[in-house]
Amino acid sequence: MTNFVKPAVKVYPNTEALAYAAAQHIAELSDRAIAVRGRFSIALSGGSTPRRAFETLASDEFAKSVEWLQWQVFWSDERAVPPEDPDSNIYMARRAFLDLVKIPIANIRRIKGELPPVEAAAQYDALLHDYFVGRMGVPKARFDLLMLGVGADGHIASLFPGTPALNERERWVVPNETDTVKNTKRVTLTLPAINQAAHVLFLVSGAEKADIVRRALVELPEGDGLPVHHINPDRGAVTWLLDDAAATQLRPTIIPGNLDDTLKE
Ligand code: 6PG
Repeated sequence: MTNFVKPAVKVYPNTEALAYAAAQHIAELSDRAIAVRGRFSIALSGGSTPRRAFETLASDEFAKSVEWLQWQVFWSDERAVPPEDPDSNIYMARRAFLDLVKIPIANIRRIKGELPPVEAAAQYDALLHDYFVGRMGVPKARFDLLMLGVGADGHIASLFPGTPALNERERWVVPNETDTVKNTKRVTLTLPAINQAAHVLFLVSGAEKADIVRRALVELPEGDGLPVHHINPDRGAVTWLLDDAAATQLRPTIIPGNLDDTLKE
């Protein structure tokens, strides 16, 4: 039987507090990775909750203390649109923080959403192999931190329930498609790639996520489970940062601010 990494779960009173905690968490992991290896590799995610965390990272408090020059920026997924399209994840992240902090442009490697998804996926897969295998000398996509949101349907990155990308066992990046969201064509990291990260960070907010948060954290998966049920990084850690609204269906005994201990029971 697979051993599941026990996630650390923390709840904050509102989206501002959540964004601040997320920025702090990212900054701490960045400091730690840079102290040990001299660089910090992060895969960014799309979504509204990450955007607020990115904006907080661009605020003076973080912008002045984070060692941006050592950041290596990647993506969990991208929509099949050009980078100047407001729907692209890179457009959002650039405006929220990448254009405002001192990350060298060469250290921001993007998924080419303007290409046909099959091609964009193959190029991004090759780029990740060049970085991790070629440059870092590790046979894995060992991101220091990989960010994820979760959709109300249980999707993570662009791995939607019932889509073929979920069955990929070899490639790190694949094209994917769903008609359940806007921007139906996507390029996404696969489960094997996500599960090679050293640290996976889920950022989830809003009452519409309360049901999926409960299903992901408390219920045993039925059948094959949802995409979110398959996140179990190999010798890695998982953290969920939630706002109160997203945590309302977790057990009432859970202490706001730190669910860690209560989830052990
Ligand atoms: C994207 C994503 C996607 C997102 C979830 C949650 O590109 O849209 O990477 O997986 O993280 O849909 O998004 P929200 O935080 O906006 O609910």
